[in-house]
Parts: sequence; structure tokens; C-alpha cells
Amino acid sequence: MEFKRTNMAGDLRIEDVKKEVVLMGWAQTVRNLGSLVFIDLRDYTGISQIVVREEDKDNFEKAKTIQREYVLEIKGIVRERESKNSEIPTGDVEIVAEKINILDKANTPPIYIKDDDNISENMRLKYRYLDLRKPKMQRILRLRAEIVKTMRDYMYENNFVEVETPFLTKTTPEGARDYLVPSRLNPGEFYALPQSPQLLKQILMIAGTDRYYQIVKCFRDEDLRANRQPEFTQLDMELSFSNQEDVINVNEGLLKVLFDKFTDFDLKLPLQRLDYTDAIEKYGSDKPDLRYGYFINDITDVFKDTDFNVFKENLEEGKSIRAINFKNLSDKYSRKNIDKLVEFVKDYGLKGLSFIKVSSDGIQSSIKKYLTDDILNQLKEKLDLKTNDLILIAADKNKKVLEGLGALRRKVAKDNNLYEKEWAPLWVVNFPMFEYSEEEQRYVSQHHPFTKPKDEDIKYLSESPQLVRTDAYDIVINGDEMGGGSVRINDSGLQKKVFEALNLTDDDINKKFGFFIEALKYGTPPHAGLAYGLDRLVMLFAKTDNIKDVIAFPKTQSAQDPLTEAPSFVNRKVLDELSIEIKN
Ligand code: AMO
Repeated sequence: MEFKRTNMAGDLRIEDVKKEVVLMGWAQTVRNLGSLVFIDLRDYTGISQIVVREEDKDNFEKAKTIQREYVLEIKGIVRERESKNSEIPTGDVEIVAEKINILDKANTPPIYIKDDDNISENMRLKYRYLDLRKPKMQRILRLRAEIVKTMRDYMYENNFVEVETPFLTKTTPEGARDYLVPSRLNPGEFYALPQSPQLLKQILMIAGTDRYYQIVKCFRDEDLRANRQPEFTQLDMELSFSNQEDVINVNEGLLKVLFDKFTDFDLKLPLQRLDYTDAIEKYGSDKPDLRYGYFINDITDVFKDTDFNVFKENLEEGKSIRAINFKNLSDKYSRKNIDKLVEFVKDYGLKGLSFIKVSSDGIQSSIKKYLTDDILNQLKEKLDLKTNDLILIAADKNKKVLEGLGALRRKVAKDNNLYEKEWAPLWVVNFPMFEYSEEEQRYVSQHHPFTKPKDEDIKYLSESPQLVRTDAYDIVINGDEMGGGSVRINDSGLQKKVFEALNLTDDDINKKFGFFIEALKYGTPPHAGLAYGLDRLVMLFAKTDNIKDVIAFPKTQSAQDPLTEAPSFVNRKVLDELSIEIKN
């Protein structure tokens, strides 16, 4: 480089006219108009238009050779543009080149450096360094860094100490499979990459750290979705001598700071709290989206004497009948469109949906002949039936009906853009301790096994684990789980009882968690904590629904990185050193 950079490409304004400036960046476009060459020069702040005149022979000849994505150093004088471009902040001015240096040439890039480039995800990830040059991606990288800084400042001000915990460690159960790392020095043995720092942060409380936090990578080998990555980042925290209220208070303070800084929404505290049971019963989800209404209603009673066989059979088997009134949507759903919704709920294990449409010329319904006056009157009252309403009804086991209708609620809201507000944050509280896993034929933890049962429910641990509730809490924003935490067990005896309720044998408990049960015996303060999915918070503030937009180098759906081509095979010698044999 010949000169020192004086300005960024996105900074220049009409006040800068006549200034001599030096810019560095990439050639976004080059236009040759015969007697003039225009170069749009880009850096992360934006674009400046550079003009090169024919009479300026050396620069002109050089400019004609410049291609997209060449790296340039440009010295020139700012002048007012003749034809202004109101679409970009620097559109009032241009720079007349005095000296152009080509700092590096570039091959023709396989993707365009613009936000609306409609290229496949695989290409975006393979050429991530080009993809990240896009203004939107640069903006999100910087937004993420600012969010992290804001969090660190807040945690520091609130007496939290940042402690790093190891990546080469022992499994912590958070419900996913572990990523394992073979140990060369201990043949046949493996480290697990942490699914979260859960046990070590609790051990830090035993160690007297008082308030811990960490911005930390977590690793989970699980099925990937739009908001899930195999390695993701948490803002993780733990507080000694604290209960649920303390954790919620500290975190509402943090959320307030974040919302004030990164949105124009005035977050009102305290946030709404919803009991887990109500969330499931009303919204069919433990992370309900409250940006819109449309509740699930239990209408089992209404049909208790019905002749409709499908409902009758369900009632005899002790299942339930539930409905959502999609108000004012009757017009939008023809028979064909309703059939599409039926197909949709089949993915959730429901066999079908019945519908009732109320219009000015009467009622249309797939179960019309069973809608007696009495049933209609009850429905009117229960569901507030009005003209133009669309009622969708499902009957099955509670869990299936609620999950299916919950998903239907989300789909209909999304398809019809029914959002009444931009932000809907809430706490979901009072989670059950266990849920029954049909797959494993046993109870598994809802949160994790270190969560403390409510004192009054401890008595149910061995006989009726389904009745045990906990002080666990999730922060849910716009229908997505942003974070979760709980009050922890600080008594080794109780911890052991919980492991037993999960059907772990003494041997299992000792092998997996012996060190932790031992640690609990040496004076453990009452403690509680929480972890956010940092990537998910950044998604919210960046207004994107794809987690890959907020991670610099994310993995694909099949957990691969097209840029580095990880994971990859290793050679025989390396495997031998690790005492590993590959099947087939
Ligand atoms: P949990 O498992 O609920 O709790 O994780 C906390 C938060 O992390 C985010 N998250 C993810 N984000 C992206 N990709 C993933 N694969 C992924 N998995 C989880 C979610 C989630 O709410 N140790 C406990 C916390 C505690 O009890 O303190 C834990 O990890 O936003």
C-alpha cells in the first residue's frame, strides 16, 4: 500500500466535497463508458463511486483492467455528483481518482456480492469468504459482536466472573448425543465435547465462585433445524444463594438492556409468566408464540353424547376433542385449502381435522349432520362463534391433539400473517421434572437431572414421577426458546434419588456422576442458573429466521462444512495412534 486509509467507503457525504481521501476496498462493479470508467468501491461500511477520466491516462488504462472483487487502493478528491443516487448514503458524492493501485487481483467470483443473491446454501457456505462480504452478513457479524459486548458489560456490572471450562471433558446430559474425541494417551478412552458446562458451573458454585458466566461453545450431535446447529454458543450463568426469582430478576435486567439497545421496543418488566400446563393446554407448545391469539379449546364435553363415530370412539378411549376458532378466516379456506391443513396435521400423528365454517348463508361443516342445536349452542358459547369464523377440530390422545393443533396454530398464523405485535416475550414456568419417553420406555428429564424438584413434590419421586414439578423456567420470545434454566439440587442424597427415578443403576450413577455426587457432599450453596442460546438471540435482533446467517462458519443440515470439507477421513497411521479401527 502506498497511502494510509483516511476514510471508509460508506462514510463520505456532501460535507466532504473537495477533501482528498484514500479508500481501500473491493471493486463491486466496474462500468466503462468510453471516456469515463466508474468503479463502485466497497468495504464493510458501504460503497463509494470512483470516477476515472480518460485524460488521466495511467489511471484510466489501469481502471479498464479492473474486474469484480479486485482489491484496490484509491486516492482522490471528493466532488458533488451530477446525477445523485438517493438509494445509498454516499449517493450525493463521488471521488475523482488521482491514483489507483491494484492491491490484488481476483478470479471471477462464483457468487454475487449482494444481499438478494439467490444462490444455493451449499455455494454460500463453500465460498463463505465471498458470502460474508455481503453487507447484510457484515452487519450481522458486527451486531453479534456488539450483543456479546453488551452481555459481558452487564454481567461484569452485576458481579459475575467469567470462567472458562474445558472442551475436552466428560459427558453432561442435555438430551442429545455427545461428540466424542479419542484420547491418544489413554487408548480406547474418549473425551466428550460439552453439551453445556452444566456440571462444571455447579462445581464452580461449590468452589465459592458465587456468580459465574461464560460465553461458551456447546456441542450436540442432534438433528439440525432452522434454529439448531451442532456447535452453538450459550451465554451461560449460575448464581449461588439464589432462587428462581433472583435468576429471573437478573435476566430481565439483561433483556431490558438488550432490547433498549438493539430494538425500538420498550420492554415492560416484569415479563408475563405462563404456567407450563397452561402453555400446553392453550397453545399446544411449551414455547408459545403470543404475537397472536387463537387458543386451543377443550370441547370434549360438547360431544359427550354425539353419534359421530370418530368422536364417539375417541371418547370411549378416554381421548379428547379440541378446537381452535380461527376468527374471520372462513373466506380464506376453501375445501381444498382445508384438505391441505389436514395433510399438514397428519405429520403430527393426527388422523384428520373436522371443520365448521360460519357464513352469512349458514353453516358448512364436514360433520354438519351431527351438529345438533344443542351442540351448536354450546360451541357458540365456548368458542365465541361468529360469522366468517373457521373452526378446526381434532380428536385423539391429549398429547397428539395438543401438538397437532399447536403446530396448526403456528402454520395458520404464519400463512395469513396474523401477527398482532412484533415482540412477545414471556417466561414459561413450573415445568414437570420428567416426561415419559415411549422410545426408551422410561421417564427422562424434561430439563436435566440436576434440576430441583419442588419441595412439596419430592414425595412423588419414586412412586409417581409424572407428578413432580420443578422450579425450571424458559425464556420464550416470539415462539422460540431463547434460554432455559432451573434451581438446582444441592443435596447429594436428593440428587441420587433423582438419578434413581431415571432408572439409573448405582453403577451407572457412579461411573457417570460419581465425581459430582462426591462434590455435592462438601458444602454446596443453594444455587440456580440459566443459559441462553446466543445464536438465537442474535437471530431475533438481526431479524433473520436462519441460524446460519448469524454464525460465521456454520454447518449444513448434515453437519458438514462445505468450506473446509469437515468432517473428513483420516489416514491409517493416525487411527493406529488412537487405537481406532473403522468398521467396513
Ligand atoms: P438448554 O439445553 O435448554 O439448557 O440450552 C439452553 C439454550 O441453548 C439454546 N440451544 C441451541 N441453540 C442452537 N443450536 C442448538 N443445537 C441448541 N441447543 C440449545 C436454546 C436453549 O434454550 N445447561 C442448561 C442451562 C441451565 O440449566 O442453566 C442448558 O444447556 O436457546
